[in-house]
Amino acid sequence: MRRDDMDKPKLLIVDDDEEIRTQMKWALAQEYRVFIAEDRASALEVFQAERPAIVTLDLGLPPHPRDMEEGFRTLNDILQADTNAKVIVITGRNGREYALQAIGQGAYDFFRKPIQLGELQVVLRRALHVYQLEQEHRALQQRLYSQAFGEMLGTSPQMQEVFTAIHKVANTDASVLIVGESGTGKELVARAIHRRSGRREAPFVAINCGAIPENLLESELFGHEKGAFTGAHMQRKGRIESAQGGSLFLDEIGELSLPLQVKLLRFLQEHQLERLGGRESIAVNTRVLAATNMDLHQAMAAGRFREDLYYRLGVVIIALPPLRERGEDVLLLAKALLQRYTTEGKYKITAFTRQALTALQSYNWPGNVRELENRIKRAVIMAPGTRLTPGDLDLASPFSKYEGQGLREAREALEKELIQRVLARHKGNVTRTATALGVSRPTLHELLSKYAIER
Ligand SMILES: Nc1ncnc2c1ncn2[C@@H]1O[C@H](COP(=O)(O)OP(=O)(O)OP(=O)(O)O)[C@@H](O)[C@H]1O
Ligand SMILES: [Mg+2]
Repeated sequence: MRRDDMDKPKLLIVDDDEEIRTQMKWALAQEYRVFIAEDRASALEVFQAERPAIVTLDLGLPPHPRDMEEGFRTLNDILQADTNAKVIVITGRNGREYALQAIGQGAYDFFRKPIQLGELQVVLRRALHVYQLEQEHRALQQRLYSQAFGEMLGTSPQMQEVFTAIHKVANTDASVLIVGESGTGKELVARAIHRRSGRREAPFVAINCGAIPENLLESELFGHEKGAFTGAHMQRKGRIESAQGGSLFLDEIGELSLPLQVKLLRFLQEHQLERLGGRESIAVNTRVLAATNMDLHQAMAAGRFREDLYYRLGVVIIALPPLRERGEDVLLLAKALLQRYTTEGKYKITAFTRQALTALQSYNWPGNVRELENRIKRAVIMAPGTRLTPGDLDLASPFSKYEGQGLREAREALEKELIQRVLARHKGNVTRTATALGVSRPTLHELLSKYAIER
């Protein structure tokens, strides 16, 4: 193959008429690297192997060139394999209806026989132009995704607020308290703050206060001198000291015992600490970032968390919204995660079905982004098709969207939904809706105002 051939865009011609194939190939080879196929199977094979940008597809393919069934199937297969491909269907003289149907199914354009090569070339050039624009757009969007905020994604106003807060606080030495349900990205926020701070070259040290037994946690945090306790054979620096010049991330801060809360408070006030069994005070320049999914106000009211520590830690508080309150971010995240997992592992899944997108959006996400990650990760491995369905994501059950809610909330959500549906079916007629739901009119009126349902 000549070198400049490699730079030409790829075109696949699918036609069962050899004469047409040859004629088209001959006319278009100047501009395109042309591949040809004569039936559905070979079309798909070539398409998968070469990934052409544009395809011309004769709808009348064997074994029954007169009905367009095989052509439509081929169209579907190609678009399943790559929704971005531009397919131009070619129909017989009277194929207008088929052509429109094909466009409805995702074909880019149509062309009628007999083929005027000059005209076809114009159509192809335009299709290629659109293809290239879309590709550029995707590449830009991709860059935007990955730059958005390190690996933190989100375009919802709630997340933009979080990003702004990270920006503002990063270059100060203020302690930051990050609160939010589990899986909302608290650790990611802490890392983002560290990475954007002047401390980025120094260590980011994370410790989970809930995962370490209380009697070990103290020396883990503050370190110890040789002989401080049985088994302390050597002197050891604690995590606060290892994060010297950098940031210490205290996860699950609500689990810290009261005596350790006092010690931590002292460190925050004086920037000095004593190792266990040590006598000298050591000056340590470590910034503290803390996180919790516990309601610290409740813990303070119950005397389990010190108020003075709360105010020291929470000079700035960043509250992460639950995923279900982030609107379109669910889809943005889902698509980005799908892309991440499919490029990691060479899977052939390319997208979500429409139903899956709806299911993703109406689900409650009690485990937030982490749960979304896990569902997509598993679906990518297990799904048989090329597009993920609600079933693949384990969101097919009518109950899945109520998961994570209490019985009462779930009951009310269901009640509201059902009333809305039946009301819509009866075009807002209250009497008929009440009858259909088996309640009296006054009861229905009460429910309508309770759920703020408009007729
Ligand atoms: N906005 C986001 N964009 C992309 N990925 C995210 C986002 N938020 C969270 N994640 C991912 O979700 C997972 C959970 O995030 P992270 O561990 O920071 O949450 P967490 O709030 O600390 O959870 P937990 O309370 O369970 O410790 C991580 O894999 C993280 O990369
Ligand atoms: Mg965490």
